[in-house]
Order: sequence, then structure tokens, then C-alpha cells
Amino acid sequence: MSVQSDQRKPVTINTLHKMKQQKEKFTCLTAYDYCSAYSVSSNGVEVILVGDSLGMVIQGHDSSLPVTVDDVAYHMRCVKRGNQGSFLMADMPFMSYHDHNQTLENCAVLMREGAQMVKLEGGGWLADFTRLIVQHGIPVCAHMGLTPQSVNHLGGYRVQGRNPEQAQEMIDEALILQEAGADIILLECVPTDLGAKITDALDVPVIGIGAGPDTDAQIMVWHDLLGLYPGRPAKFVKNFLAGESGGIQGAITSYVSAVKQGLFPAPEHCYT
Ligand code: KIV
Repeated sequence: MSVQSDQRKPVTINTLHKMKQQKEKFTCLTAYDYCSAYSVSSNGVEVILVGDSLGMVIQGHDSSLPVTVDDVAYHMRCVKRGNQGSFLMADMPFMSYHDHNQTLENCAVLMREGAQMVKLEGGGWLADFTRLIVQHGIPVCAHMGLTPQSVNHLGGYRVQGRNPEQAQEMIDEALILQEAGADIILLECVPTDLGAKITDALDVPVIGIGAGPDTDAQIMVWHDLLGLYPGRPAKFVKNFLAGESGGIQGAITSYVSAVKQGLFPAPEHCYT
């Protein structure tokens, strides 16, 4: 085994904003360890998320709720060593942003391990936390729509924003979060037309997962990309390894080119 380097020009938050302005789609994948981070970043994926989905795909829990800041910090440390220039985003786990001091301390732990942005789940109520974190020089991604940390409140992993009132509320809240300083909005499991409306309404990039083909970027969980997670996959998941002759590297590059060409997500991965 030899330690390699395939470093490209590092992606920054400015790169992502510029790509939105130039209507160039970008890609994101989760990674949780050195080798997956190396493969993801050296095959052209702009953003790596160390997500709290690690609670399910790494630790085998049935939700992301048991994940701690230390868990995300550990995986960020591993990912940072493998990263070849992708922009690194860290999830703030369940209940790690409930008061101001604790929020800042938790952000600091993740940033010290190599994160370049933190992601928080919620809606308009995140504005206060977003302002606080951004004021301290830390970029924020606000994760809206289906927010898995609230699965018990939502009554399951369900599509959000299906009725016109909820949809309008989500558009308004996305604008509030942009105004509060969020540099990226992530939309999970919303109808395609709502994904498109929010993307159009915002100046900051919108990353989608189950939010249709019109968002500025797409994100997938590494284990879903490779068909590793047991059970029936969500509608928005595509196994890019199935039928791929280029193995794991091929699956990553197929995902990147499908997103950039607007071929993924296809209608069968979207909600109406
Ligand atoms: O934790 C995660 O992997 C995520 C993605 C599903 C967006 O938040």
C-alpha cells in the first residue's frame, strides 16, 4: 500500500457560489473514512459531507439520533486525511445546537477537525443559530424539508411541502435562512416543483436529495451510491455501482457526470 496524492485546486464556498451563478451543477457525496474520502474527492465530487447518516450506515442504528459530536469529529478526522481538495461539510448532530454557547463549542470541535462548513437541520427557527455561527466565521448549510433528526415529530421519513401552504412556508423560511447568512440550503424529499421554486428564489446554492433535477447540486449517501445499505432503498436512491464496469471509481464518475448532465435524478427518483 502506498500513500498517494491526487490533490486538485481546492473547492471553496466561493467556488460553489460561482457555480450557481454560472448554472453549473455540482455534486456532493457523504464519506466517513480515509479511502472513501480519497476516492470521492479525487473523482471530481465538489463537496464531501460527514453526515449523521453515519448513525445508520456505519453504526447500524435505526435513526441518526444517537450520533454525537465526537462521532462526527472522529469521522471528519479520517475524511480530512483522505480528502484531495473537496469542500468538507460536517453535520451538527441531534441536540448539538440547542443553546448558543454549546452550539459554538460544538461547531469549534468540528471545524478544528477539518470541517469547512457545518450543516444544521430545521426551518425558520434556525435563523438565530445561523446568524450566531456565521458571525463567528463559520459557513452554515441549512437542511430543510425532510429533516431526519425530527423523524419522531414528522411521524416518519415522509415527503415534505406537498400542500401549497407548507410549500409556501418552506420557500419563505429558505429566504429567511439565506437572509440570516446561510451559504447553502439543502432540501431533502420535497416535490420537484418546490425544489425548482426554492432554487430559483435563492441566490445561494441549493443541494437536493429527493428534491428533483432542478436544484443546483445533488447529494447522495456513499452506501446508497454503492447499493450497500440493506433493505428497500428510498425512491431517490440510485445504485451507481450496479452494472458499472469501472467498479467503485466508475460508480463515482458516473454519478458526477449524470448530475452534471442533468440525467440524475430521473423522473423515477422524484416526487410530484
Ligand atoms: O447525514 C446525511 O447523510 C445527510 C444527507 C442525507 C443529506 O444529511
